[in-house]
Amino acid sequence: MKELSKIALAVEPSTTMAIDAMFKQMKAEGQNVIGFGAGEPDFPTPDYIKEAGIQAIRNNETKYTPAAGTIELRKAVCQRLKEDCGVDYEYTQIAVSNGAKPCVYVALRALVNPGDEVILPAPYWVSYIELIRMVGGVPVVVEATEAENFKITPEKLAAAITPKTKCMILNNPSNPTGMMYSRQELEAISKVCVEQDIYVISDEIYYGLVYDGGQFVSLAALGEDIKERTLLINGVSKSYAMTGWRIGYVAAPAKIAKVIANFLSHSTGSPCSISQKASALALSASQDSIEEMRKAFEERRNYMVERMNQIEGVSCIKPEGAFYVMMNIEKLIGKELHSTVIKDSDDFGNLFLKYGKVAVVPGTGFAAPNFVRWSYATSMENIKEGLDRLERFLAGETI
Ligand SMILES: Cc1ncc(COP(=O)(O)O)c(C=O)c1O
Repeated sequence: MKELSKIALAVEPSTTMAIDAMFKQMKAEGQNVIGFGAGEPDFPTPDYIKEAGIQAIRNNETKYTPAAGTIELRKAVCQRLKEDCGVDYEYTQIAVSNGAKPCVYVALRALVNPGDEVILPAPYWVSYIELIRMVGGVPVVVEATEAENFKITPEKLAAAITPKTKCMILNNPSNPTGMMYSRQELEAISKVCVEQDIYVISDEIYYGLVYDGGQFVSLAALGEDIKERTLLINGVSKSYAMTGWRIGYVAAPAKIAKVIANFLSHSTGSPCSISQKASALALSASQDSIEEMRKAFEERRNYMVERMNQIEGVSCIKPEGAFYVMMNIEKLIGKELHSTVIKDSDDFGNLFLKYGKVAVVPGTGFAAPNFVRWSYATSMENIKEGLDRLERFLAGETI
């Protein structure tokens, strides 16, 4: 038989899958394991949003919609972007698709020719690097260290740009680090992008989950020069606990939005009509219920960070948004734990699951081999127990 597509064959399975598969198997066997891998809020979708979906079915709103989404939803997106981020878009500049993930894909599709370079700050969300490769792009990974608060500096960005650079991906606030760029930091990055004429895919999906009164700044809000080079990605998955409804969007200059809409019309078709109805309500109704979730996340983050920094051998910096903490395990590298020498975060993750009965996500998949990611999208009870287990595991106990 003939060979499959080279591009498809080069796509790596998620490196986080191995531990997740083992975690699920142990759980199925009835073992008392706790998972901190969740990439989604543990809260249910608020009732009034669910009701809008149910109502859409009752009203027979169950047909194809425009490929880029209903006008109602795209207008609701514009209104929310204006209110929350101070950016003005016409609804024709919005393309809705089945979650933010396909929006990143289609944004890359709109920009990248085979061989074009795409700058990707690390630690990065695992999917970005594969998505870049899936469109024939060449990822250029630029490391942002913990000492730099995991944020790329304008100097590092400028040094990575070549005549082949088409765009960069900026994730703010970040998965996996939870760090958020200040206005000043964004302005410095934006200046480089405008001067060097590169596009930015700015994934702002966690913008509603920001702590300590921090002020989120959207890249597109910094001025026309950068806005015309920005493909802003967002969606309802994280802020409204709607991961399964699969609605995300890209806001872009009209010409780019049109290209994206064309692409969507021949690939995914229109997003789910029912989910669009529920999402339009989520974006346009009172935002009080998301504030409750945000507060709960903030409390959990505070507890997790404080405890983690009291435990010998590990540490973390305080994330400013999203729901992840990057635990630094540098001091454990080369040490023996449970009769195994720890070489990297994969080893740590495997041992911690086997002997500590806790699943965390090794940073190897995020290009951060000396870190593991804990998600605090789980109950406070689990968080307390997980950190108790970490302490006991590091002391050599088996749980
Ligand atoms: C940074 C980032 N962007 C996009 C997504 C995907 O969002 P969606 O579920 O809307 O596709 C995720 C999900 O984990 C994410 O962490």
